[in-house]
Amino acid sequence: MNTRAGEFAALQRAGEHAGRRVIVVDRCESTQDIAKDYATRSDAGPGVAIIARRQTAGRGRLGRAWADTAESGLAMSLTLDARAVSDPGLLSIGVGLAACQACEFVLKCSPVPDAGAATAPKSEGPPTVIPTLGLRWPNDVVERSLGRKLAGILIERSADVFIIGIGINCLQRDTDWPEALRARAVSLLELQPRLDRASLRALIAGEVLRSIDRVLALPHVQIARDWFARDTLVGSRRVFEHAGARVRGLVESIDPLSHLIVRDDTGSLHRLPALTTSMVHDEIA
Ligand code: BTN
Repeated sequence: MNTRAGEFAALQRAGEHAGRRVIVVDRCESTQDIAKDYATRSDAGPGVAIIARRQTAGRGRLGRAWADTAESGLAMSLTLDARAVSDPGLLSIGVGLAACQACEFVLKCSPVPDAGAATAPKSEGPPTVIPTLGLRWPNDVVERSLGRKLAGILIERSADVFIIGIGINCLQRDTDWPEALRARAVSLLELQPRLDRASLRALIAGEVLRSIDRVLALPHVQIARDWFARDTLVGSRRVFEHAGARVRGLVESIDPLSHLIVRDDTGSLHRLPALTTSMVHDEIA
């Protein structure tokens, strides 16, 4: 079996083990569009997962682009019956939490020798530590030390179906990133160089599917609590946009299902509704 066919098979098995119909495509512009097509076909129904080996025109939140995955990232879209979702805000943070937990699992289950163990192989690179991940409201998965983004979520709706798009940086190395992303993006492999390149995308795909099913079955308050335990915004200065106006200042608190409290430089507190506020990434607060 050549590597390409092998990876297809592994990706499909990973999804099927997680109890879903998985369709793997070699190359596409956006897995969101393929999932949407399936969602509108009466015979397909919700519950399909589309995975692309390469996605060339991925979409991000707020009209942004998601960089070409160049066979290094996981690009996956799954469909979910919108009638079964009581709160779109909960879905948004729940999927972010699930993606974060799947990445934590994959980083933890890689073979890491005990620190200082006599048998630990010598490494040319940085010491092998499990990096701490976090969530940047509402659902970016980031590594905490530099805030570089590991995964992003895009949720779109087509009639009665949510199309949940998940992009995870998997195999990229430092030199693979375009200049504009180098300081802002990170991959699983950069965080844990001992991960197995050949099986990583299949591993994380299966884990994300399992994790989404598990998280979305949790009580709402637990999703909010587990999300908050991973929050990276409280205590940092940020810029937000709400109702056409910008608010910049210190994030004092977040209730991910309800609102954010931001103190501006005059000391005034702003209560920004979670569902209708977005964070401005390219402005310094
Ligand atoms: C973001 O952080 O802005 C969201 C990025 C979402 C990217 C994923 S990759 C799979 C799916 N297909 C797309 O076109 N976008 C999502």
